Amino acid sequence: TLNTYQPPEHVTQVTSALHGVSRKVALVPTMGALHAGHRELIRRAKRLPNTVVAASIFVNPLQFGEGEDFEAYPRPLEADLAVLAEDGVQIAFTPKASDMYGEDAAITMNPGPLGDELEGAVRPGHFGGMLTVVAKLFNIVRPDYAFFGEKDYQQLVLIKKMVRDLNFGTKVIGVPTVRERDGLALSSRNVYLSEKEREDAVVLSAALTAGAFFGRDGADAVFDAARRTLATRPDVVVDYLELRGTDLGPAPSDGEARLLIAARVGKTRLIDNVPVLLG
Ligand code: PAJ
Repeated sequence: TLNTYQPPEHVTQVTSALHGVSRKVALVPTMGALHAGHRELIRRAKRLPNTVVAASIFVNPLQFGEGEDFEAYPRPLEADLAVLAEDGVQIAFTPKASDMYGEDAAITMNPGPLGDELEGAVRPGHFGGMLTVVAKLFNIVRPDYAFFGEKDYQQLVLIKKMVRDLNFGTKVIGVPTVRERDGLALSSRNVYLSEKEREDAVVLSAALTAGAFFGRDGADAVFDAARRTLATRPDVVVDYLELRGTDLGPAPSDGEARLLIAARVGKTRLIDNVPVLLG
């Protein structure tokens, strides 16, 4: 177990040595404040045969915008390391900002047009910053597999596209969203919600579920059901509710699609998405 601080070069040495003895490496990148969603990614990684599981914890400054919650983002490092140990993660990579970004760092990832849509329209620069750190983590850890949640669906699509477009040797595996009993998607940001906001927040998943139920009847029926549900919680401010193809291109008239929502509940911005079968 490597659960104390390691510089990036040391982590690369360790995973290279593992590859040298024909072991595979799986990476679960996180920003910490670990919950059952993160733990599900770890559980999936642990199922792979002959594979050492690494997890990273790094609150990446590059993917937070002006006025976002970079400073306030929860950082319970000791508790997180205990979770990783309990879940059998063999390598914990917890770099410092100075390990990741030299003062003269100037080259970053460009996510292309999808980086300006949906979340990207509200969070300029977010996906470029996210892809930059994921590319760095892949280069440091050199994982054979990397696990990401469908909860951040646009992130997952963009990472898969980066790997394809830039010939990264890592296989990206998406994991379905882990939810609270009432349907709320688990998120490190849920701790910001007051009791009333927590009650309101259930409307995101409720609206998506209602919408997806009417997929057979077409896009209009999906939006109608979702919007009626959203209207029951007038304090929830919707940034977008969109139906797209599974690659986040235009939705097909029939077949697999994705229904995505972002909304503000008080000061907290939440996102969620579900699969929809159209037509
Ligand atoms: P973070 O928000 O900590 O999420 C880490 C991983 O956990 C992501 O792949 C995310 O999709 C997944 N995840 C979060 N909540 C989930 C849930 N309820 N069910 C399933 N998976 C869930 O996403 C990031 O960090 C960062 O952008 C990162 C990829 C680490 C790059 O900085």
